[in-house]
Amino acid sequence: MEKDHRLKRIETYVKKQFEHDTTGHGFDHMKRVALWSRKLAVEEEVDPVLAEAAGWLHDIGDEKLFTNPDKALEERNRLLLELNFTLIQKNEINKAIETVSFRKGKKPSSYLGAVVQDADRLDAIGAIGIARAFTYGGAKGQSIDNEEGDTSSSIQHFHDKLLKLSGMMNTESGRLEADRRHRFMEKYLLEFSREKQLD
Ligand code: ADP
Ligand code: NI
Repeated sequence: MEKDHRLKRIETYVKKQFEHDTTGHGFDHMKRVALWSRKLAVEEEVDPVLAEAAGWLHDIGDEKLFTNPDKALEERNRLLLELNFTLIQKNEINKAIETVSFRKGKKPSSYLGAVVQDADRLDAIGAIGIARAFTYGGAKGQSIDNEEGDTSSSIQHFHDKLLKLSGMMNTESGRLEADRRHRFMEKYLLEFSREKQLD
């Protein structure tokens, strides 16, 4: 089946916006969230095109990533209307995106929002989540593990946030995938401790 040309246009737009990111919010993150949003949407009987669009666009206008968030949001809205998404669809996408962020801690108010939040959370855990945690830590000059005098480290971040995410999933299919990724992180942390332990 030929890919919806609107999703292709969104992908191209997103690629331009995130190609220089070094904090784990690059194009690859957007792509995985878009594709997992679509996959979860199919399983949860939510509109897959809206879910994929919201997945692609979920970090556009994020205050920590954009110097002018309002301008970015305006541009995002303009693109959706240009691509003939209806006003209702555009609003649904925006509403879904608003609740995605962990930091803001909001509960999604729609199935679309639930699916996209789950897809974003999945990308913070498991093998990919591990890679992103150390990428982020490296970009911020943070230690791998807590050394004396450190108040934060990437390993600390697993306990502060990543190990909590599988218990916070919205959808059944998201939870199933999150459980698998959670077990993988637990195994990884055990092995990390074992390698540190010399006696
Ligand atoms: P979001 O934009 O999804 O709200 P964040 O910006 O907090 O999330 O996180 C983006 C990525 O960076 C995630 O994979 C997250 O685990 C990682 N990250 C965020 N804070 C830290 C930290 N203090 N140490 C290591 N990784 C982090
Ligand atoms: Ni994200």
